[in-house]
Amino acid sequence: MERIPEPELMVEKEQVISYDEADFSEGEVNLINQINHYLLRKNISLGEKDLIVDLGCGPGNISEKLAIKWPNTEVVGIDGSKEMILRAEYNKSTSTNQKKLRKLRYICSDIKDIKANKFLFKKRISLLVSNSLIHHITNLEDFFNTIKSLSSDITVNFHKDLKRPLDEKSALELKAQCSKKFNKILTNDYYASLRASYTFKELKIFTLENDLSSLDVFEEGDNYLIVYGKV
Ligand SMILES: C[S@@+](CC[C@H](N)C(=O)[O-])C[C@H]1O[C@@H](n2cnc3c(N)ncnc32)[C@H](O)[C@@H]1O
Repeated sequence: MERIPEPELMVEKEQVISYDEADFSEGEVNLINQINHYLLRKNISLGEKDLIVDLGCGPGNISEKLAIKWPNTEVVGIDGSKEMILRAEYNKSTSTNQKKLRKLRYICSDIKDIKANKFLFKKRISLLVSNSLIHHITNLEDFFNTIKSLSSDITVNFHKDLKRPLDEKSALELKAQCSKKFNKILTNDYYASLRASYTFKELKIFTLENDLSSLDVFEEGDNYLIVYGKV
């Protein structure tokens, strides 16, 4: 199936509300456990000296879970959509986990502009994360240039995203499954996201051709891709 890009930022109020109100917690908890597993395997324990950055943080679902898992570590969520950042700030302010979220903050910025704003971070990034971001990015160079410019020799990258289905029929089947759980706006967004997603081959070839072969690209189950490692 050919890739059909979708708008990068999620700015429509209804779209943001639908996304924020949906319960993705099962997958999010799995993602945090998976990151923890990889860090443990590398003997990395995150503490006060570290910085975690969550790119395309949306309403902060993953950022909050990262902050709760590593409460002594500074966590910064970044999103280019003001609506999303407002939601993230609101969710943080109404969370029952205030104590653990005290080192979490949000920045509204397009990931393509962070390079110029690197002064926003006082320390090097230990863990650079994104979930469901890559498919929004029209050109892969923009995503990889950003993570390259933000990474240092200590930075572990962990980026998870949808994998583009093989054909339209499979995409429509996944859309139908989604519609059983989520509302129409979210289901349509999910379908647009599936069509905008990259394939394993596209990501793998990009890393190989752009001096990024230290990054591992692999498939998780039938529907997801992971980019992991050091740049
Ligand atoms: C599908 S949501 C994922 C939100 C969050 N990571 C999660 O897992 O719940 C994708 C988010 O990426 C943001 N985004 C897309 N392109 C971006 C860009 N170029 N710069 C910053 N944020 C971007 C969108 O605004 C949206 O909030």
